[in-house]
Amino acid sequence: MCGIVGYVGRAEAAPLLLHGLKKLEYRGYDSAGIAVVEPHLHIYKTQGRIADLEALLTEGVPPGSLGIGHTRWATHGRPSWENAHPHCDCSGQIAVVHNGIIENYLELRKKLEGEGHVFRSETDTEVVSHLVEKYYAGDLCRAVQAAVTQLKGSYALAVVSSRHPNELIAVRHDSPLVIGVGEGEYYLASDIPALLDFTRTAYILDDGQVARITRESVAVFNQHGAEQLPQTMHISWDPVQAEKEGYAHFMLKEIHEQPRAIRQTLAGRLGVGGALRLAEEIPADFVRGITNVHLIACGTAYHAALYGAYLLQECTDLQVHVELASEYRYKRTRVNDRTLAIAISQSGETADTLGAMRKAKAAGARILAITNVVGSTLAREADAVMYTHAGPEIAVASTKAYTAQLCSLCLLAAYLQQHSQGTYDPDLLRGLLEIPDQMASIFQTCEARIKEYSWERLAAVSDTFFLGRGLDLASAMEGQLKLKEIAYIHAEALAAGELKHGTLALIEPGVPVVALATQPHLLDKLLSNLREVKARHGEVFLIAMDRQRDFSQAADEVLLVPRTYPMLAPLLTVLPMQLMAYYTATARGCDVDKPRNLAKSVTVE
Ligand code: F6R
Repeated sequence: MCGIVGYVGRAEAAPLLLHGLKKLEYRGYDSAGIAVVEPHLHIYKTQGRIADLEALLTEGVPPGSLGIGHTRWATHGRPSWENAHPHCDCSGQIAVVHNGIIENYLELRKKLEGEGHVFRSETDTEVVSHLVEKYYAGDLCRAVQAAVTQLKGSYALAVVSSRHPNELIAVRHDSPLVIGVGEGEYYLASDIPALLDFTRTAYILDDGQVARITRESVAVFNQHGAEQLPQTMHISWDPVQAEKEGYAHFMLKEIHEQPRAIRQTLAGRLGVGGALRLAEEIPADFVRGITNVHLIACGTAYHAALYGAYLLQECTDLQVHVELASEYRYKRTRVNDRTLAIAISQSGETADTLGAMRKAKAAGARILAITNVVGSTLAREADAVMYTHAGPEIAVASTKAYTAQLCSLCLLAAYLQQHSQGTYDPDLLRGLLEIPDQMASIFQTCEARIKEYSWERLAAVSDTFFLGRGLDLASAMEGQLKLKEIAYIHAEALAAGELKHGTLALIEPGVPVVALATQPHLLDKLLSNLREVKARHGEVFLIAMDRQRDFSQAADEVLLVPRTYPMLAPLLTVLPMQLMAYYTATARGCDVDKPRNLAKSVTVE
C-alpha cells in the first residue's frame, strides 16, 4: 500500500512534501514522486529512494506552495519512472496520486483511449487523471467528484491542477486519508506519521468523502455532493506508535490488516455473486493442455502451497505435486511442457524458490508466480504472475501475505477447474467474499481470550503440538511455525492420525495441544485422536467451526470461528494461531517484529 502526502499553504511545498514522504519510508516502496504547482505543474519522480528524489531537487526547488507527493508500492505495472506517481492528464495540467486499486481501470482506459486520451504508464491510477480532465469544466472539485463516480475499487486520491493554484482535492474510499490543520495551511497524508512534525490537529476523512482544501479552509462533501461538517481530532500518538497505527508491533497491525488484504486480493478478480475474472493475468492459452502441477515454496509460503495442492486435488483432475523449494532443486522431477509450476513467495526473492523455479523452467514447465512484490525477481522471470496485493509486510513473520496467498490459490483452483471441467464450485467463491467480515469478527470475539490463554498457558511451556487432518494439517503446520519463529517455543505439527504411530509418547499431563477441527468428513476421526491425547492428560485447545457438536470430551478449551465453506476454513483458523504466537511472544519478552535468525527475505541457499 502506497503513501500520499499533500500541502497547501504559504510555505514552499516541496521540502514539506519530501519530509512527509520520508516519514512514510518505513512502509516500504519502490518509487516516489512529487508535483508542485508554480505556476505550471513541476513533476519530479524516481524509481528509487526519497534521497534520489531529493537529489533531483538540488538545483533548486520550485517555490510553489501547493503540491502532492507519493511513495509507490507497485500493484499494476512494474516499478519504473513511468509508473511512479504523480500521473498527469493529456494537457499536463492535472496531477493525481493514488493509494489502492481501481478495479475497472482496464475498461475505463479502453474507453478513454477511444475518446483520444493518451496514456503514458501501465498504472490503474492514470485513468483518474484522464477522467478528471474529461469532466473538467472550470471547477476542479466537481471534475473529481464526477470522475470518482466512474471508479470501482478502493482509493485515496490527491489531485492538483495548475489552473487552481490554491486548491488541493482529496478523496477517500476504502483507503485512509487525514488532513492536518496548520496556521493558514493544511497538510494531507495517508498515514499519521507524515503529519506529526507539523501538527497534531487533524480531520479524518470518512469513506466516500471528497475534500476541497485551500490555504484558508476545508470543505468536505459526501458522495452525493452534500457539504458536511468535518470533525477535528487531536493526535496523541508518538511517532513510533503512529508508524504502527497505535498497535504495539507491526506484526499485530498486519494480523489485523488481513480483512483489508483479502479485499485487495479479491479486488477486480471476483465480481458480485462470485463471477471469476483471472484471464487477464493468467491467459487461457497459458493453462490450456496442462496435465500436472508442481507447487514449490519455502516456509510459510510452503504451507500455502500445501493448501493449494489440496484444493487442486479436490477441484481438478490434474496430477498435483507439492515440494519444498530447497528439496525440489536437487531431486529428480518429472517436468514436461504440460507441467504448470507454481512458485509461491511473499518477497519473490527467496533463493531456494528462485532456484526451484529456474529448474522447472529449464525443464520446460510453464511458470506461474504467486508473489506480493511487483517487479521482484520471481515476478520478472515467471511466464505469468498473480500478485497477492496484501500490501507491504514489514514484520518478519508472515501473516497477511499468507492469507492472501491462500485466497489467491482459491481463485486459481476455481480457474483451473473451470478450464479442465468447464465449471467451478460457486460456493467456494461466494464464501470467499464473506471472509473479510468473518476475519474481522474473529478479532472482536476471540482476541481477548487468545491473549489470556497465551499469557497464562503457552508462554510458560517448552513443547507444544499442533494437530489437524486434511486441510487442517496445512494450517496446523503454519500455526506451529509462527509459534517457533517468534516465541521460540518448540512446536510440532502432526497429522492427527499419525499421533498413535510414535509421538503419543511425548503427550504428558499438561502438554498443550492445539487442534483444528473444521473438516466435517474428518471430524469424528479427529475427535477420537484427541481423546487419545485427553486420556494422557494432554491439554487440548480446539479451534472448530461446528456449533452443533459437543467437544467437551475431546478438548479443554474450544474456540469457534465463523462458519464458512470447509475449504475456506484455513483462511479463518490461522488468525487465532497467529494471535497465539504473537501474544505468547510478547509475554516472553521476545522481539516480535525482528525474531532471531530469520530475515524478511532469505536470499541465500
Ligand atoms: C515465516 C516466514 C518465512 C518465509 C520464507 C519464505 O513467517 O516469513 O518462513 O515464509 O522464508 O519467504 P518468501 O515467501 O518471501 O519466499
